[in-house]
Amino acid sequence: MSIWNYVVTAHKPTNVTHSCVGNFTNPHDINLIIAPMTNSAKTSLVCKRSGLIRSIAEPMEKTVYTTKVLRNGNIAKLQAGYLFPEIGRRRSAHMQKYPDANVISLGIGDTTEPIPEVITSAMAQRAQALSTIEGYSGYGAEQGEKVLRAALARTFYGDFGIKDTDIFVSDGAKCDISRLQLVFGSNVTIAVQDPSYPAYVDSSVIVGQTGSFEKDVQKYGKIEYMKCLPENDFFPDLLSVPRTDIIFFCSPNNPTGAAATRKQMKELVAFAKANGSIIIYDSAYAIYMSDDNPKSIYEIPGAREVAIETASFSKYAGFTGVRLGWTVVPDELRFSDGFPVANDFNRIMCTCFNGASNIAQAGGLACLSPEGLKAMYGVVEFYKENTKIIVDTFTSLGFQVYGGRNAPYVWVRFPGRKSWDIFAEILEKAHIVTTPGSGFGPGGEGFIRVSAFGHRENIVEAARRLKSLYK
Ligand SMILES: Cc1ncc(COP(=O)(O)O)c(C=O)c1O
Repeated sequence: MSIWNYVVTAHKPTNVTHSCVGNFTNPHDINLIIAPMTNSAKTSLVCKRSGLIRSIAEPMEKTVYTTKVLRNGNIAKLQAGYLFPEIGRRRSAHMQKYPDANVISLGIGDTTEPIPEVITSAMAQRAQALSTIEGYSGYGAEQGEKVLRAALARTFYGDFGIKDTDIFVSDGAKCDISRLQLVFGSNVTIAVQDPSYPAYVDSSVIVGQTGSFEKDVQKYGKIEYMKCLPENDFFPDLLSVPRTDIIFFCSPNNPTGAAATRKQMKELVAFAKANGSIIIYDSAYAIYMSDDNPKSIYEIPGAREVAIETASFSKYAGFTGVRLGWTVVPDELRFSDGFPVANDFNRIMCTCFNGASNIAQAGGLACLSPEGLKAMYGVVEFYKENTKIIVDTFTSLGFQVYGGRNAPYVWVRFPGRKSWDIFAEILEKAHIVTTPGSGFGPGGEGFIRVSAFGHRENIVEAARRLKSLYK
């Protein structure tokens, strides 16, 4: 009995090519294999013993049912996938290619260390209480539990005139960014730092604030991209920035790790006031601040009249999966007709959201207790030590390294190179996932972002591999 070796390539009607390699004792067996693969009426076979068999199936008539609903043209403007799912896809492809590789992920920026028990035990207690008559609660206030709003106001905004009623508790800053876009609608203009967290631009495209993507400049029409490069100390040259209605500003910044100084923040607030603009200030990483920079925009006098601040427990307490954040919309912030912005945000929260999980809110409250704060800062300190290892590694290799001091991100420059090429090189040769800078905007081209979220042994191993790759 002879063994037959074949590679079978079949084109399904969808034009997807499927391949399989097999050993068959009889060439007629091949038909049995191909038939289910091709799902085709006709299959032609060119068959050679111990060689290549190619089966080309003629496409069948298209049978996909389509509705009469037009695709949302704004969503259709978006480029490829959202950055992080795309990185995840490439990581999976790499792991398929190298199933035995120990891939280290310093890409997406997800927390890795356990949540301190003082916080999880409060959540567990609240969950347990839901099984009792006295402890059960259903829908809560859409704005969050009073006691948590008060604790947030006290802990983070004590001296800055923010009231608990200005604070809206939510399921995270990313969700609030989209809900803020709903508040402002499609007729406003926006400015973003370039590079910046992709959710600002993508949500702006989705609500219809922008033109199409312009491939030559890698920008969407009608968005003002404020360059933030080492050359301008990662702070936009406000004298050359045209007026927009909304200014997204993230400090400490994702991805550059740069934090605006008090002087720069004063300039930003004055710029917004002079132009009658609203700043959406993202302070998701404020807890990582080492230098004496403002952690909240409300540290700047006058900011309550021009700024919203969005923040999150995600990177403070490892709540990326638990989901809890908050957004501050001060009473003093008004539209051009005098109407309070907070009233419209409240309307959106009541319409699009039903309040944060009561279990998560119990966790948030525990974070703000004296023991919780201590534990939270302990984990943050751990990540800051990771950051130092990464900064030292790239610095010792002679790279220009930015960020890291005030944020869990390190921003590394590779002059003259494309970000995705550097990403691919580090993944291929060191099995480390990073994030290509260009994914955060055209200003990120030539950089990669390295996240410090990781177990210590992985950070140390990544440093070793990077040293061996770039020595
Ligand atoms: C700048 C910035 N804002 C907001 C978020 C999202 O935070 P959340 O997990 O609360 O949705 C992230 C997450 O990485 C971020 O980097």
